[in-house]
This record gives sequence, C-alpha cells and structure tokens, in this order.
Amino acid sequence: ALKASTTIVVAGASGDLAKKKTFPALFGLYNNGFLPSDIRIIGYARTKMDPEEYHKRVTQYIKAPIPAMKKKLEEFLERCSYVSGQYDKDDGFEELEKELKKCEETYEDKKAPKNRVFYMALPPSVFTVVAANFKKHNYSEGGINRIIVEKPFGKDLESSREMQVDLKKEWKEEEIFRIDHYLGKEMVKNLLVLRFANVMLDASFNKNLISNVQITFKEPFGTEGRGGYFDEFGIIRDVMQNHLLQVLSILTMERPVSFSSEDIRDEKVKVLRYIPEIKFEDVLLGQYTASGDKPGYLDDETVPKGSICPTFAACVLHINSPRWEGVPFILKAGKALNEQKTEIRIQYKDVTQGIFKEITRNELVIRVQPGEAVYLKMNSKAPGLAMRTVPTEMDLTYKRRFSDLKIPEAYEALILDALNGDHSNFVRDDELDIAWKIFTPILHYIEEKKPKPHGYAYGSRGPEELEKFVQDKGAFVRSSANYTWPSTSVL
Ligand code: BG6
Repeated sequence: ALKASTTIVVAGASGDLAKKKTFPALFGLYNNGFLPSDIRIIGYARTKMDPEEYHKRVTQYIKAPIPAMKKKLEEFLERCSYVSGQYDKDDGFEELEKELKKCEETYEDKKAPKNRVFYMALPPSVFTVVAANFKKHNYSEGGINRIIVEKPFGKDLESSREMQVDLKKEWKEEEIFRIDHYLGKEMVKNLLVLRFANVMLDASFNKNLISNVQITFKEPFGTEGRGGYFDEFGIIRDVMQNHLLQVLSILTMERPVSFSSEDIRDEKVKVLRYIPEIKFEDVLLGQYTASGDKPGYLDDETVPKGSICPTFAACVLHINSPRWEGVPFILKAGKALNEQKTEIRIQYKDVTQGIFKEITRNELVIRVQPGEAVYLKMNSKAPGLAMRTVPTEMDLTYKRRFSDLKIPEAYEALILDALNGDHSNFVRDDELDIAWKIFTPILHYIEEKKPKPHGYAYGSRGPEELEKFVQDKGAFVRSSANYTWPSTSVL
C-alpha cells in the first residue's frame, strides 16, 4: 500500500475526463477519509491559469451540496495546485518537478518514501510523450511510482501494441494501471461473488442449462458535441471491445485460484482466448437518425459528412470452451436509444416439454445500472384452486435490500485500488491484446468496405432489424408478455 506521503499528478487537468470523473472521484475519496491527510494533488495541462482560477475550476467540477462538504472542499482545494506546461517540452516538466518537491516538503513524515501517482487524463495523441516525460523528469527515486492510463488504448491490435511497447520502454507493467471504468462498478465487482460464492449459480452456468446470454448497454443520448472523438472510434471501440468484453470475461471465466489480481486476470485471459475473431455476418450496425427535435448523428457538426460510423452495434460471439461451447453471447451497445440501462441477461433453456406448454424460461438478470439489482425469473403456481403457472421472481434489488445504500463511483473505487497497488480491476497487457485480437478484423472490415449502418430513430429501441438478428443468432426470446419486473417502480 502506498497511501501516505503521496502526490497525485493529474495530466490533462483542464480536460473533460478530469472534470467529469477524476476530480469528483478524488474529492469523493478525500471527503470520506480515504485519502491520506497529507495528500497533494497537482494538475498539469497546457492552459495557463493562476491558482485562484484553477481552484475556481476545480470547484465547478465538484458537487458539494451540504455545508460539511463545503468545508471539506476548502481543505481539499488547499491540497490542489497547478502547473501549466507543454506536453512535449522539458521546461513544463521541470516546473512540475519543482512543484512536486515543494509538495513533498509538506509531508508530515519527513523520512517516508515519496510516492508519486501519475494520472493520464489525456488524448491519445500526447499520451506516449507525456508518459516518457514523466519518467524522465518526475520519477521518484526511492518512492513508489504508478501511472494510471485511460482508453483509447490504440485503435486496433497493431496500434495498441505500438502504444504498449512505447509505454513499456519507460514503465514496468506493475507500475501501470489501465482503467476500464466498468471494472470499478459495484455490480461488476459483485460478479465474482455472485458466481463463486453461490454453488447453484456457478453450477448452472454452462452449455447444458443456458440457452444464451445477452449483455446490453443502452444510453438515451447521442454524441452531442463529442462527435469529433466518437467518429474516429465508433461504438465497438468506445464501449464493446472494452466495457462489455470485460463484463463478459468475468461472467464466464473459470474460478480463479485466488482473489489475487494475477490469478483473476489469468482466468480472464484464458476465457478470452477461447473466443474466435468476429466476422461481419456476426454483427449488426446502426446509426441514429433525427427524430422530433432530436438531431441525427450526421447532424452533429463535429461529425464528418456522410460518416458510416456505427453508433449502435449488436454482435454475437462464442466461447469455444468445454463450459460454453455452442452458447451464443450477444453483446449490444448503442447511443441515442429509448433508455439508459446496462444489464446482463442469462436465459436458461426451456424445461422439457410435455407437462407444460407455453411456459416462460428462467432468466437471471443482473442489472449493472441504473438501480443495481439481481433477479431470477421463476415459474410458480398461481395461488388458488386452479392449476395455473405464473412467471414470478426472486429479487435482490439493492435499494430495497440494503439500507443507507451508498454505491461508490467507479472512479473512486479504481483510484483507491491504484493507490493501494491492487491491479485486480485494471486491464493487463495480455488482456488488452486479446480483446483487440477479437475485434480488429471486424473493425478493419468496416473501415475498408464501409458497410452502411442501419438507421434507427433517436430515442428508439435500435434498428428494426435487431430482433431478427438476435433470433437468427440463436437467442430466441420467448415473449413473456404478461410479465413486468415489479421492482421497476422502486428504481
Ligand atoms: C465511456 C464511453 O467509456 O463510457 C462513453 O467513452 C460512454 O461513450 C461511457 O458514455 C459510459 O459510461 P457509464 O459509466 O456512464 O455507463
């Protein structure tokens, strides 16, 4: 662990990620007493700002609605300073080094090793050069050094490998923390426990009992101003190749030898290696169009004219392992859809027909967000004298089950893990490599052949072709028209 006598440098401190995620998370941790009392945080970016202006900005990033929090925020701001500098010139980093030394002089324990954490909230174009400059100018001798990095990790297998090679010239794998923020989400972290601490669940997770698995990510808004970034990447790189594949790997991996980060990541890599590359016939692509007062993707001024960039994708993949062979896994991800929801839906096989007709399947639904919940759809006898079955559920809805529920933000959980040196919820180099291997052929195909995506109206459920695609790929969903999950109203 490294918590005491640590300074965190946030590179890209005036950018979007720092604003939306990094600073709120750092403050959240500080406010709840999870950061050491002598923590120092230095922002580094190109924009010139005096300390007052910088503090004003950081304050804007953070929500502190109650007086006790306001006081904490003032304390927090005293620990925050800023250095402006270019990303590719020595002098900025030399200035930063002076500021680091100044911060370190304030540590309560004068003899403690001086630890430094470098958080890269930066665009990929400057990423490698900054990582190299931190190493050259700001690496702590005698203390622990860590570097937290954010996607995009390249655009395909080759560019990702180049980036990793560059990064590793300067930094050791044990110093690198690659963030996939889905790994910091409470329900994703619960997957390990749900599976391996529940005999009946784990025993049922296999090709004999499971018909198909669907992992769905839906967002009710479009790219809105972020189109410039998005168009270069598309929904597959933005969400599927990283967040959804991470969820899939934890959901399907074998039980790790221990909870140690290397044991967990060994198993994740192993299950991913069973997945063949994805082909074009395995995907359905979509792009949202205008609807009512909502603009279409191509109406976003930051999007190049006539772009074929997918904002929606559905994809079927297979895991050719003894446990999962033949079970279709359907990943779906889309922007500008009818609702916000990330969930895993595990659909069990039909009961043997004969005594029951038209009976619905068991389904285990793991709701990642919003409103964390796990429920198992079960058939039951309708109470009464007649012999009739009804679909019901066993339901663990967090809001109802846990009083004083406070779910930590994913970034809070991950930054704390990085400070503690725990790699379990970070992406290892070989994991990243294999994730790119699975998706690179389809990404190249899209770039070369430029298939036109199916249109879908902003705010709809996705392309009309989706239902047929899902059914053709073997995820037959027997409609349970007379079923609504009762907890919907609680969330
Ligand atoms: C990011 C993507 O990684 O994840 C965004 O770049 C997406 O496009 C976001 O909106 C979703 O994260 P969350 O935590 O809001 O589900």
